[in-house]
Amino acid sequence: MAAVSEVQAILEQIRKVRQIRQYRPESVPEDIVQQLLEIARWTGSSRNTQPWHFIVVDDREILRQLSQLRPPINWLAGAPLGIAIVLNGQSEISEAYDEGRVTERLLIAAKLLGLGGGVAWYGDEAQEAEAKRILGIPPERTARSIVAIGYPLSARDPRPTPVSGGRKPLAELVSYNRYGQRRS
Ligand SMILES: Cc1cc2nc3c(=O)[nH]c(=O)nc-3n(C[C@H](O)[C@H](O)[C@H](O)COP(=O)(O)O)c2cc1C
Repeated sequence: MAAVSEVQAILEQIRKVRQIRQYRPESVPEDIVQQLLEIARWTGSSRNTQPWHFIVVDDREILRQLSQLRPPINWLAGAPLGIAIVLNGQSEISEAYDEGRVTERLLIAAKLLGLGGGVAWYGDEAQEAEAKRILGIPPERTARSIVAIGYPLSARDPRPTPVSGGRKPLAELVSYNRYGQRRS
């Protein structure tokens, strides 16, 4: 069991996981890629269906092609690695939930390993179809996103229309016992 101070330090790292869109050029070492895949593999899923397949994309030309799908993911061209998530395409809602869980684990693991990660959604139906073509994914599978991974250069949002960081205060987000009820 880790010491209390170590646990606090890890929790603080998890709290500070951010979407990283700008990366240093270095490749991600193979042992780290394997660790990330192990973390992904052990993610819990609905009825333990493990409805995923992971495509490790370290070919920069493929990342560049994906980055061209729409402007909000242009930054993907600068990532050294992506892990594309492919889902079975059998249960839309539970697979979307499972995809979110595995994505967040990848982002947290990347941060704890000294890297950073960022989610890139391919976009609408036509853009998803194009992503499947680029990645050779059968049409009946679901493919919505790729998680970019690399050594972070900055947490800045370089997109033409950046979204603001920060978070809502807990007072706006939390009720006690019944919806809308404040703590007396
Ligand atoms: C479902 C989902 C889809 C996302 N798609 C994109 C995307 O296509 N491009 C992008 O730059 N960021 C994308 N993001 C990242 C969000 O913009 C980011 O999580 C949010 O702005 C908070 O960032 P921060 O933690 O750095 O403050 C996506 C996040 C989620 C959860």
